Amino acid sequence: MRIDILTILPYLIESSLNHSIIKRARQKEIVSIYVHDIRDYAQNKQKQVDDYPFGGGAGMVMCIEPIDLLISKLKKERKYDEVIYLTPDGKKFTQRTANYLATKENIILLCGHYKGVDQRIRDNLVTRELSIGDFVLSGGELAAAVVTDCLVRIVPGAISDETSALTDSFQDNLLAPPTYTRPAVYKGWKVPEILLSGNQQWIDEWRHSKSVERTRLLRPDLLKDDTEQE
Ligand code: ADE
Repeated sequence: MRIDILTILPYLIESSLNHSIIKRARQKEIVSIYVHDIRDYAQNKQKQVDDYPFGGGAGMVMCIEPIDLLISKLKKERKYDEVIYLTPDGKKFTQRTANYLATKENIILLCGHYKGVDQRIRDNLVTRELSIGDFVLSGGELAAAVVTDCLVRIVPGAISDETSALTDSFQDNLLAPPTYTRPAVYKGWKVPEILLSGNQQWIDEWRHSKSVERTRLLRPDLLKDDTEQE
């Protein structure tokens, strides 16, 4: 899988995607992540990539030209499955969306800033708009890092224990069960006996029932919501 991230703050993205699972997946060439500076495609001396909004009002708007030039250049080099714009008014990003997008070959993530991008970019170049939550960040970079991290860890081969990503919270609309490690007793606080029993079937059943219990208690909405599309 290849992910191209378009931003005016490339260093912010790079530093967040060079650790742990993501770093290893990049080294193993399971995924390639390219970060592009939109400013490099500005056609003026000042390298300005934003301008005042037509009709007046507060804030600046990211200009169409540098973003179009960059996307057009990338599209000439390969075919992209999706051009995704990160924005607080996009569709909510979920594990289901991640599972779907992780099957794609090439995607572009476009990070907005200021008052967002010129609407014509959204109308003509973007195929999907995603929000990582009902709050406003100062730019799309952290959202793009969240989406990238989430996709990369489920691409086959990124995690050495293949089953591990499948038992994450949300993978089957259930929260993950509690986990424990040594020591079995600490300050008198004990690990549930069943996990030490050695009987894998009992352990699996216990974990499933704990997942259901936790989900009912903390996120009952997940048990109802099975109609959501990617
Ligand atoms: N850009 C600013 N806020 C955002 C959010 N909540 N999700 C995605 N992109 C954003």
